[in-house]
Amino acid sequence: MRPSDDKLHAAIIMDGNGRWATARGLPRVAGHPAGAEALRRTVEAAPDLGIRILTVYAFSSDNWQRPRTEVSALMKLFHMYLRRERARCVENGVRVSIIGRRDRLPTMVLPEIESAEKATVEGKKLQLRLAVDYSSREAIAAAAKKLNGHATRDRLSAALGGPDVDLLIRTGGEQRLSDFLLWEAAYAELVFTPVMWPDFQASDLAAAVAEFHSRERRFGAVPKVALA
Ligand code: IPE
Ligand code: IPE
Ligand code: MG
Repeated sequence: MRPSDDKLHAAIIMDGNGRWATARGLPRVAGHPAGAEALRRTVEAAPDLGIRILTVYAFSSDNWQRPRTEVSALMKLFHMYLRRERARCVENGVRVSIIGRRDRLPTMVLPEIESAEKATVEGKKLQLRLAVDYSSREAIAAAAKKLNGHATRDRLSAALGGPDVDLLIRTGGEQRLSDFLLWEAAYAELVFTPVMWPDFQASDLAAAVAEFHSRERRFGAVPKVALA
């Protein structure tokens, strides 16, 4: 499952909200609404850069370990984001879906998820996948369990539901995957940027896409020039 270059699947680990806020003398949680603004900008900029699928890491299954106040602020923000952005997504042809576990989310969030997914189902310009209570290891284990001893590479990919990732970006300066799309990113081009997520601009996304196009993807084969 390799989408062509003009149908990019980009994935973003939106990291650095807490440090962004702390650097401004603000409480950590103040970074998250600023991060939501960055997501809005990114979603708007993505289609013109050839991105057709955008998967963003909003809340990992390990993030439940954070202080209760931060977790609840994040859940409220998620609720508000879905409610506020729904109409804009419909207008802009953005299809929204949520990946990750739903059974541990606050009950107030579930109707917002369902209504955002339903309202935007016809969106053709961009597929926005929000990873919430997401763990890639857990998703792989669940897919393998479902295949009940008949797992193959293709079946596992299909059971996981999303196409392979072409470009994976992590903001905030860390260079790790933190349990995000481990299977799907097998041959993803990785771009790490020190920019804190709330500061991420359309130009940063454009730079990452340009970096992606400057690389030669070989998928284990020899460089094209070697065959000439
Ligand atoms: C990313 O920013 C948002 C979430 C993980 C929910 P962080 O909150 O991890 O910010 P830093 O990495 O602590 O700066
Ligand atoms: C990964 O960031 C999760 C999200 C961005 C939602 P973390 O900040 O939780 O990851 P670690 O703890 O630095 O690995
Ligand atoms: Mg972080």
